[in-house]
Amino acid sequence: MSVRTTSPTSVPYVEYVEYVEDLSPGRGTLPPRAWYASSDVVSLSLDGSWRFRLSATADAEDDSFAEEGYDSGDWAEVTVPGHWVLQGDGDFGAPIYTNHLYPFPVDPPRVPTENPTGDHLRFFDLPDDWPASSHPDAVLRFDGVESCARVWLNGTDIGEFKGSRLPHEFAVGHLLKPAGNVLAVRVHQWSAGSYLEDQDQWWLPGIFRDVTLLHRPAGSALDFFVHASYDHREGTGTLRVDSEVDGRVVVPGLDIDTKTGQAVVVPVRPWTAETPHLYDGTLVTDGERVPLRIGFRTVALEDGLIKVNGRAILFRGVNRHEWHPEHGRALDLETMREDVLLMKRHNVNAVRTSHYPPHPAFLDLCDEYGLWVVDECDLETHGFTEQAWRDNPVDDDRWTPALLDRAARMVERDKNHPSVVVWSLGNEAGTGRGLTAMAEWIRGRDGSRLLHYEGDRNCRDTDVYSRMYADHAEVERIGRGLDGGPRKRRRLPLILCEYGHAMGNGPGGLADYQRIFEEYDRIQGGFIWEWIDHGVKDERYGFAYGGDFGEELHDGNFVCDGLLFPDRTPSPGLLEYKKAIEPVRIKGDGIGTGVGIDVGGTVRVTNTYDFADLSALAFEWSYDVDGEAVEAGALNVPALAPGESADVKLPEPPADARGAETRWTVRAALAEDSAWGAKGHLVAWAQLPLAGRPLVGIAAGERPVRDGRGGIKLGPAVFASRTGELTTVGGIDVVGPKLDVWRAPTDNDMGAAWQSDVRYGVLWRKLGLHRMRHRLDAVELADDALIVRTRVAPAASEVGLRTVYRWTSDGTRLRLTVSVAPEGDWNVPLPRLGVRLGLTAGDRVRWHGGGPGEGYPDTDSASMLGRWESTVDELQTPYVRPQENGARAAVRWAEIGTGPGLRALRVEGEPEFWFTARRWTSEQLDAADHLTDLTDLTPGDTVWVNLDHGQQGIGSQSCGPGVLPRYQLWARPAQFSFVFSEIDG
Ligand code: GAL
Repeated sequence: MSVRTTSPTSVPYVEYVEYVEDLSPGRGTLPPRAWYASSDVVSLSLDGSWRFRLSATADAEDDSFAEEGYDSGDWAEVTVPGHWVLQGDGDFGAPIYTNHLYPFPVDPPRVPTENPTGDHLRFFDLPDDWPASSHPDAVLRFDGVESCARVWLNGTDIGEFKGSRLPHEFAVGHLLKPAGNVLAVRVHQWSAGSYLEDQDQWWLPGIFRDVTLLHRPAGSALDFFVHASYDHREGTGTLRVDSEVDGRVVVPGLDIDTKTGQAVVVPVRPWTAETPHLYDGTLVTDGERVPLRIGFRTVALEDGLIKVNGRAILFRGVNRHEWHPEHGRALDLETMREDVLLMKRHNVNAVRTSHYPPHPAFLDLCDEYGLWVVDECDLETHGFTEQAWRDNPVDDDRWTPALLDRAARMVERDKNHPSVVVWSLGNEAGTGRGLTAMAEWIRGRDGSRLLHYEGDRNCRDTDVYSRMYADHAEVERIGRGLDGGPRKRRRLPLILCEYGHAMGNGPGGLADYQRIFEEYDRIQGGFIWEWIDHGVKDERYGFAYGGDFGEELHDGNFVCDGLLFPDRTPSPGLLEYKKAIEPVRIKGDGIGTGVGIDVGGTVRVTNTYDFADLSALAFEWSYDVDGEAVEAGALNVPALAPGESADVKLPEPPADARGAETRWTVRAALAEDSAWGAKGHLVAWAQLPLAGRPLVGIAAGERPVRDGRGGIKLGPAVFASRTGELTTVGGIDVVGPKLDVWRAPTDNDMGAAWQSDVRYGVLWRKLGLHRMRHRLDAVELADDALIVRTRVAPAASEVGLRTVYRWTSDGTRLRLTVSVAPEGDWNVPLPRLGVRLGLTAGDRVRWHGGGPGEGYPDTDSASMLGRWESTVDELQTPYVRPQENGARAAVRWAEIGTGPGLRALRVEGEPEFWFTARRWTSEQLDAADHLTDLTDLTPGDTVWVNLDHGQQGIGSQSCGPGVLPRYQLWARPAQFSFVFSEIDG
């Protein structure tokens, strides 16, 4: 072992691991090229169980393990693809989560001495069908290794590489033996490359994508570039396949059989994300037949807009990190397919591969099912912001070769995918010459796609003005062209590469964004942050997040900010997004104003797809009386072209619904099974109110009387005479109800620590809204009412809410009218305003109102009015960090009770209310850090029910703008009523 003294730090360092801190991208690897699998060429997957030894430092062990005959008998095993920190039951270290802080001292390119290093060994024989005279150019391919690897085959050092989410290949034919091959890979968690990979995610070392040995016959294809453009005026496609090795290009479906390098023009059906027509073809070289899937499409920046095949497109997108709760970023094909299918089924049409190229098979799926892809390079240096971007690698020429290597590995690997329409240089890497060099290289190599980088605010190197988390007002200003900015930028379209921060409950305000996107041509849509929560499956917590593995530095549950829960269950945020971006708009006259539809009964249907007509959809109407569909039928909507609208007549409403609330529900669903959804899958819908809800109105005939046993009787109810608190309704025991303004703050209520904006969740707690006191001022027995006067206020403040509960009864039903008058200077909105009561029994709920899922003022578009049923447990939304959830919006009435016949307390609201029921209090919910904190609570019998007159909106402030003013719940005089009764059956 030779030790050198490095300058200038004078730290002894072992020569054989010097490459770890070397700025270069690697040594010994082949030039990057297109990723493909040819059917008639032999390959050997080296995935599976590998021998594994973990060391604490890069230099703890020498390289003798790579030699043939080395005895690894006492080594452990890991599964490849995989991350070792997620295997070995904690024996192999643990994941670390930071958002942008480097979890090691920033001293580029140096990394800590504590550098977990995994030695991997794989023994293999060549398969029987491996050609006997192995061509010298057999290739060993690594699709992804974090963060730096050195490789030996049969004792020979073949090189090393960095660039975790990028492919690296070595020529190994000359080293292969028919049997007894030893592949040794040393993987270091930290390397100079880690400075370029500071994405907001878990740090997860390991060989996390496939390892494959590919036979390369003489005359095999090396690299090739499929150029397949579409001329929308002529309806023709131009195909030219440039190949490093000459050959023929055959596309039977288009009668093409031509030489590589030769352009052919033929009539074709173009590829779009909505109509993903692919033509199967083959690239035939002397030694190989490579299957091609060709999509003809042309991407251009024209008239200041992103156009595909001559039409401007609107991104209804998501940011997708690769995530699996048990396997981290090691995803199998079925999980990738599940992501694509879930996207398609939720009306998503675009993916930004934040913040690195995904597993290549994911892009095949995007080609096949149809998604626009912004393919982003594996580059982020966000942690340098802590030092005002000093020493940022993207502005330091010494790093430029590594940056160019990353750009090339992405572009060369992915260039043949029609789904990829935009290249992105990376994320949050500041600005610098290195980025410009990347942009220039990419443009030189592929002029057929557009370039994106959000950090380039002046759009010097990019084709699109990109922002993250801009608020509605600013997006609208940009839409109107009033944002100023440099000349080049003023002529570019805007996309929000991130918006709608889906952390915990939310995001709110998506429908409001969508309205702006659809109104202004210049705004070409956006990508929700983000697709999936990166919770790690964990026995202790259900799902773990930052800090749960004892990290000294971490960013908590900021890693759980997706539209899917970690197990891929759609969250309410995804359902809301699906509704906000639905590609068909169905409107009735007066809808949204409460007036409903005109007497003529006409709905206006608009196709907001960019390419597809409506022929794939079948429309249906239903006529709903008090939330139940009493009649339904098909609605004949023409196969409208994109952008077209039609007025469609509904049938005559049945006449027998007087005195009831009535509405139309119109649905657009898949007319037939499609590649991604079954016949009947709901794509878009609307509800059009007809007759409004009659008043609940009960005659206040009863007089409250003291019952001589410490109670006050009023109709079916008994109250405690000293406090005036309701104790029973009929045979049902009740705790409360009392005014309640507290909710367990959501991540969006709390905002992000770095934000300068007002963060209401923080102010609420400061003001003490979680510890309101109820002062009893009077219990008055009037002729026809029991009146309880109180003042509800937090300690140490003059603000308060004078609250009067007025109870009346007609003998069988009980009416509560709550009047609230704010006092003092309320400088924060209220979290909620309503009453909370406890029921000693209740596990089933029925209601007429919004459902089936939750809805808050700015997240209620997907909440469909109707009759719904649920258990109390199913009403809960399992946000990884517990917080306010589960409110059902616009509830007319709810029944909560037990037993199959439902002996229940019925609550009718005037006006409609938000309904929430849970087995724990808001305080317990607030105190919980993980779902297990709630499920571990000794279950009390009490179900806590909130009946809310108002709720504060949700917004997106966990990393973006707060709640729009119209969804804020300011303290104002308010009055609202509930009618309680006991029902049986
Ligand atoms: C952005 C960043 C993402 C993620 C998000 C917050 O600034 O690009 O990677 O950190 O904020 O969740």
